[in-house]
Amino acid sequence: MNRYLLILVVMSIIGLVHVQGRELSDEFIRLPSEKGDFFKTETDDSVGTRWAVLLAGSNGYWNYRHQADVCHAYQILKNGGIKDENIVVFMYDDIAYNRENPRQGVIINSPDGDDVYAGVPKDYTGKDVNVDNFFAVLLGDKSKVKGGSGKVVDSGPDDHIFVYYTDHGGPGVLGMPTYPYLYANDLNEVLKKKHAAGTYKSLVFYLEACEAGSIFEGLLPEGLNIYATTASGPDESSWGTYCPGEYPSPPLEYDTCLGDLYSVAWMEDCDVHNLRTETVKQQYKLVKERTSSENSYYGSHVMEYGDILLSKDSLFLYMGTNPANDNFTFIDGNSQLPSPKGVNQRDADLLHFWHKYRKAPEGSDKKSEAQQKFAEAMSHRMHLDSSVELIGKILFGLKKGPEVLNKVRSSGTPLVDDWTCLKTLVRTFETHCGSLSQYGMKHMRSFANLCNYGVTNVQMAEASSQVCTTFPSNPWSSLSNGFTA
Ligand SMILES: *[C@@H]1O[C@H](CO)[C@@H](O)[C@H](O)[C@H]1NC(C)=O
Repeated sequence: MNRYLLILVVMSIIGLVHVQGRELSDEFIRLPSEKGDFFKTETDDSVGTRWAVLLAGSNGYWNYRHQADVCHAYQILKNGGIKDENIVVFMYDDIAYNRENPRQGVIINSPDGDDVYAGVPKDYTGKDVNVDNFFAVLLGDKSKVKGGSGKVVDSGPDDHIFVYYTDHGGPGVLGMPTYPYLYANDLNEVLKKKHAAGTYKSLVFYLEACEAGSIFEGLLPEGLNIYATTASGPDESSWGTYCPGEYPSPPLEYDTCLGDLYSVAWMEDCDVHNLRTETVKQQYKLVKERTSSENSYYGSHVMEYGDILLSKDSLFLYMGTNPANDNFTFIDGNSQLPSPKGVNQRDADLLHFWHKYRKAPEGSDKKSEAQQKFAEAMSHRMHLDSSVELIGKILFGLKKGPEVLNKVRSSGTPLVDDWTCLKTLVRTFETHCGSLSQYGMKHMRSFANLCNYGVTNVQMAEASSQVCTTFPSNPWSSLSNGFTA
């Protein structure tokens, strides 16, 4: 495809985002009003330890926001009184000193926010941010941890655990900077194992990713004393925010999004409240409203899964509370923060390359480099989209193919019945057609449906080799980082 046409396509995408974003009226903070009905104080911290696991699953400067989210979450817990020895942080750590970062050594999570990077423990960084280490840490299994600080959730039966994960995702899958990706069934098995070990009283899981609901839908049973909320339902995108060209936008020198819509919603709420006086449920409602897509083209449906009753707990039980907020008790009225505008997670990288392209001086190396990156990202996307679509048509015919690929199962049903099949088909596809990469996670539902319709690996291999006659040369296609499954 002609590269100028490519640029045009993306310009129009971004133009749309920009114009529609500005059409919406901006809400402003409402002043504190009367005390709410359900104001109450929770002081049930006489027993047990609070533990937290924070994980940013991406790397690359265009994914700035995920690590910024995690750093911010750390500061909330730290200010809440949770000790470093009880907070395990996973982040690739390529942002603060990235050559593209305009403020070296500093990470911010909102346009006029303070540095959130200072003091963050570097427990697992670089290639140590991976599925195996995440699971070993959750299970408190020091012997299985490779690299990193060796810190694990060494919890006991009276303890409370908070897990926060932010990254790209797709149906049934969450990203990791080092492959393979994290599959929903494996995560839920680990949670069941943790429960069986009797090493917590209750666990709260906050998850930001596209199609995040699919990680727990039909998979996380009740009775594990686990309460999970997700940024999005099983079949919708989640959203980046504080993005260049949006309102509010990052300082001019930033050409990347600073946060994610759901994540900043819960964290900016925590920032200003005495968390003894706010329940998990109250925060869920607030975050749901702020992240909601009602009356706008951006936003997603925040969901809850597992033991819903646990949400009556105060946030204090999981996050502690900042003594500086002691006088800021939670009241409905003082919690209506303005909704910032969003950019689809999957388009945030394009937005970044586009802004770099626009800003670079005419005729410079920088300009042609940005243009090339952009064109490569776009062409890999189109290659993946068309390959998957064609495989569906080869296997099920022109009419039924798209139907099979796009089918969404009824709520309460997991994405796929045979997860081994799903992983196998992904590897087979990647063998012939190149890496799914970050963007390609969106096609997981199609692979899952092929499994649900009984497609065998042999059939998949045949169809894939027919569709991808040569292995694509695009850098995004490269399998040098291994399979994503
Ligand atoms: C909260 O209010 C009380 C009474 O006005 C005051 O003495 C105290 O210093 C305040 N605490 C904080 C953390 O601002």
